[in-house]
Amino acid sequence: MKKNNIFLDLGLQPLANNYLKKKDLEKKEKKYRLKVGMDANTNLVSINKPLSSKAMFNNTYPYRSSMSKTMINSFKNLSKLISNKFKPKKILEIGSNDGSFIKNFSKQKVIGVEPCSNIEKITKKLGYKTYANYWNKKTAWKILRNHNKIDLIYSANTISHIENLDEVFESINIVLEDKGTLIIEDPSLLECLKKNTYDQFYNEHIYVFSLIGLESILKKHNFEVYHVQKLDIHGGSNRYFIKKKDYKKKIDTSVKIFRQKEISFGLNKLSTYKSFSKRVLKSKKQLKKIFNKIILKKKKIIGYGVTAKSTTILNYCKIGKDMISYFVDTTKDKQNKFTPGTKIPIYKYRGFIENDIRYIFLGAWNFKDEIFKKEKKFIKEGGKFIIHTPYPKII
Ligand code: TMP
Repeated sequence: MKKNNIFLDLGLQPLANNYLKKKDLEKKEKKYRLKVGMDANTNLVSINKPLSSKAMFNNTYPYRSSMSKTMINSFKNLSKLISNKFKPKKILEIGSNDGSFIKNFSKQKVIGVEPCSNIEKITKKLGYKTYANYWNKKTAWKILRNHNKIDLIYSANTISHIENLDEVFESINIVLEDKGTLIIEDPSLLECLKKNTYDQFYNEHIYVFSLIGLESILKKHNFEVYHVQKLDIHGGSNRYFIKKKDYKKKIDTSVKIFRQKEISFGLNKLSTYKSFSKRVLKSKKQLKKIFNKIILKKKKIIGYGVTAKSTTILNYCKIGKDMISYFVDTTKDKQNKFTPGTKIPIYKYRGFIENDIRYIFLGAWNFKDEIFKKEKKFIKEGGKFIIHTPYPKII
């Protein structure tokens, strides 16, 4: 990213998913300065100093896509659509995580690619062909040596984690059939700016894509988007249906509509991002004010759902264990550890909220509906959630 105009400085941040063990608490944590910029040539928005993939995606990676019903259902519905509409002979998923998507298909039909070997083991054990590799040309050629060309490639919340987009699409070009379909799903930059979800930026989210940004890189590699769908997933995502340019297929009107919406919001102008940056600063002040007010009343606050996103919020707003007593989370690999940077203890979610808790900071705000449904009793008894989007408030 040469022409990167920095518009947002989110301060010193630890690695977002680096949950600390007790023995690590006294050790100095690796931190980096998180800044976000916009490339005026491509309209791509990215963080300024990506760490190496190996430093982020290794054999201790804690994220599991199967931790939420919302994700499981979304993958199930898409799988149905893929089977009915595309009828693919072979499907490849880039970033198959613990198999929430590929498990909807027979073992002969799908291939997973997952570089985090602790997670790759899960699908391999179930009998799914999974390559424990980063997505690059080497992996693409390796797959082609063992299989025919692929007619459907899917990737959710993964492409935005890879710095070298040229290599991503060159590699896809190697394995995808000429009449094949590529489906990509990632958080939407437009929704991020509209909802002030600055926590979409952290070391793993190298990019937050807009359609116009993605199109600039796709064009370079002879791909084009022919249909776009808005999803509620992860606070607002886009699902892009992409084909090779030479494959004649009608471009759906959704593409033009999305493009126009993004341009009229100003996603092609640096000034739009500068205004966003001002809103982020305001959001930080408001959130701190809410926390301070509750703490002053000597009330306890806990956190619900430790997310990579919440690492950005807590470290940017300097909300630590003096404000949040502990977090609860359903992910085993996060439990009995401490939040990166802020060192707040993380406990296992025991299926209910302790009686003395009246305030919960919703780290997993992207699963708000699912969590509110689960915590009906807490809400009924007057329990409140603190949320930062679209602006900090108690609900
Ligand atoms: P994510 O936003 O990065 O997907 O992480 C969501 C985290 O929230 C994950 O660690 C699982 C956790 N979680 C709960 O603890 N309870 C829930 O009901 C849901 C939906 C998620």
